[in-house]
Amino acid sequence: MRLRVSIGVAAFAVLAICCASVAGWNARDVAAADPAALQDESTPAARQPAANSPTPETSAAAAYIASLGPATAITEPQMANAKPAPVKVNPIVAELPLGTLVTNGEPLPACAYGRVTTPLISQTHWSLTLVDTTYALPAGWAPTDLVPTLGVGGNSRELVRSIMTPDLRRMTAAATAARAPLAVLSAYRDYRTQVITFGHWQNVEGFKAALTSSARPGHSEHQLGLAIDFESRGGPQPWTFKDWATQTAAGVWLASNAWKYGFVMSYPRGKSALTCYIYEPWHYRYVGVAEAAAIQTSGLTPRQWMWMHQPNPEPASP
Ligand code: DAL
Ligand code: ZN
Repeated sequence: MRLRVSIGVAAFAVLAICCASVAGWNARDVAAADPAALQDESTPAARQPAANSPTPETSAAAAYIASLGPATAITEPQMANAKPAPVKVNPIVAELPLGTLVTNGEPLPACAYGRVTTPLISQTHWSLTLVDTTYALPAGWAPTDLVPTLGVGGNSRELVRSIMTPDLRRMTAAATAARAPLAVLSAYRDYRTQVITFGHWQNVEGFKAALTSSARPGHSEHQLGLAIDFESRGGPQPWTFKDWATQTAAGVWLASNAWKYGFVMSYPRGKSALTCYIYEPWHYRYVGVAEAAAIQTSGLTPRQWMWMHQPNPEPASP
């Protein structure tokens, strides 16, 4: 989350969602992303908030979110037995089937707004679980090993999966030693929190801009418990800089060193057509040291890398 949402904002977002008309957006549609919006590599600090009054776009987004229905809890035994849900391939995504080995330089599926259950949601394949503007987690999906980061890395009570904490601790200690102290600003967000987060940004920026900077519910890496928004310890929030990764000691250090500790920048500069989001120098995904080193060496974005390593789909039933 890029922002600690105030109670007032949260209440407004929930109200907007509850009161929205259920017209204008079909959750099963796949809508092509607006390339013009994604070509904008400006940082959020450079983006100006749109008017706060609800727009037709806002209503459409709120209706979409409402149409996703309430999150349902999955119990731990169910999680242990969880199998990847059958992949419903939408027409746009069907152009490149899952399992296609995409080599560097060949195109990924174009950025599009769909809702396909991502296939690798088991606890085993966590480093390759792809969530983007098309692939999503079930609303009730949650990691089973969340722990607070307080005293682990940074100064936050945010939650992360326990599998990352040794590397997170090493990384924050190294950053401090390098006089580039880091803090965890936002980590795990459940589905409902993402409803509020996306609702907030659509109210601040308008629906189209929010799509490029905030994941729709179910589509956020934060729901995996494997994404962290970092800030310089003591702040201010990283998006208040034109480019946190070049203007602050913490941002510079992290951009150079995160991969050594298993973290990769999900939405690097100049890659929006591949990542489907604007540049977010503070948002890192934990993939483990080996995977992060491989991604770093490849020069690919994490989305490209994960796409390359998706499994073959189940054979279509006759
Ligand atoms: N800001 C990133 C895309 C998220 O909301 O997960
Ligand atoms: Zn983030």
